Amino acid sequence: MNYNIAVVRGDGIGPEVIEQALLVLQKVGKKFGHTFQCQDVLAGGAAIDATGMALPQETIDVCKASDAVLLGAVGGPKWDNLPGDQRPEQALLGLRKELGLFANLRPAILFEDLIDACPLKPELVEGGLDIVVVRELTGGIYFGDRGLKDGPMGKTAYDIEEYSEEEVRRIAKVAFEMAMKRNKHVTSVDKANVLETSRLWRRVVAEVAADYPQVTLNHMYVDNAAMQLVRAPRQFDVMVTSNLFGDILSDEASMVAGSIGMLPSASLAKGNFGMYEPAHGSAPDLAGQDKANPMATILSVAMMLRYTFGLLKEARAVEKAVEKVLHNGYRTPDLYQPPDSNPLATAMSMISLPIAGAFGTQTLIGTKQAGKLVSAEI
Ligand code: IPM
Ligand code: MG
Repeated sequence: MNYNIAVVRGDGIGPEVIEQALLVLQKVGKKFGHTFQCQDVLAGGAAIDATGMALPQETIDVCKASDAVLLGAVGGPKWDNLPGDQRPEQALLGLRKELGLFANLRPAILFEDLIDACPLKPELVEGGLDIVVVRELTGGIYFGDRGLKDGPMGKTAYDIEEYSEEEVRRIAKVAFEMAMKRNKHVTSVDKANVLETSRLWRRVVAEVAADYPQVTLNHMYVDNAAMQLVRAPRQFDVMVTSNLFGDILSDEASMVAGSIGMLPSASLAKGNFGMYEPAHGSAPDLAGQDKANPMATILSVAMMLRYTFGLLKEARAVEKAVEKVLHNGYRTPDLYQPPDSNPLATAMSMISLPIAGAFGTQTLIGTKQAGKLVSAEI
């Protein structure tokens, strides 16, 4: 089969992590007999430099004509002083809207081998963690009316949050469908004690739940959810929430999973079309130093294989390859912990317990080596 992919390398570490993900994709093609035809398009800072616009029409057109989009990351200090509506991030928001990508899936999986990279107490995450945040992506405060006006207390800015029943219904369905394939538990996160949008959200989610009697639904206020994620993360399976709350909670969930450098994401439209990108940003401070973790982008490719192309075996092969590389002790700098910097290891050695093997031996690797190692395991 031939698949067409629009590729936005983007800014900062974007091009580096995409390069490694494409290496992995090519290996999948070779091994399983597919061709992945990739077409580079510009968006974000790189597009501003080349065309004066963060999201050129040509990029939208090519993305729409493709089967899927793979994106690195956009933004950087170079473009920080541009007015809000011209910033590189607008490209991301524009793509989400133009391509109808209303459902954002952000899995936070703590791999067994990364338990020591998780900042939570080991007993809270024993046996690993597997949460997926389902974030509404084309509505809410991100896309409501916004502006600046004069008020009695000086300039007054506003951003309006709106949600329609249909917007809530379609994202809730995605969450429940997802839960049916997992542990059949949905936590809907809102602020229904204060916000009208949340009250509508809660009502519609409960209506959708009626169609999924096998799935347990609970509602949780967002402040409590933020606390519960670090207090007892294993209580979560699928979390469904609004655009803004999902932005915040998915970053928190990613840290629980060891590093945001491990967190992939899928943004799905109706049908099979999707845009796939790491959940991390462009990290300009790491760019060009072979220090970025490409795993989030590589795992995003696995999501593309699964959700847009329906290539489940291939997706699993990529995920297994990532697990293998981690299991073999290879770590990019975001995950690397030399044994003597690990307080638990130090404490254990001080009371002279055997520590060999307790944390394994870690080998520090760069971006390029990580991509090569994963490809070699496929
Ligand atoms: C994300 C990012 C974006 C968002 C920014 C860059 C606009 O934080 O994808 O989570 O807020 O959605
Ligand atoms: Mg974010």
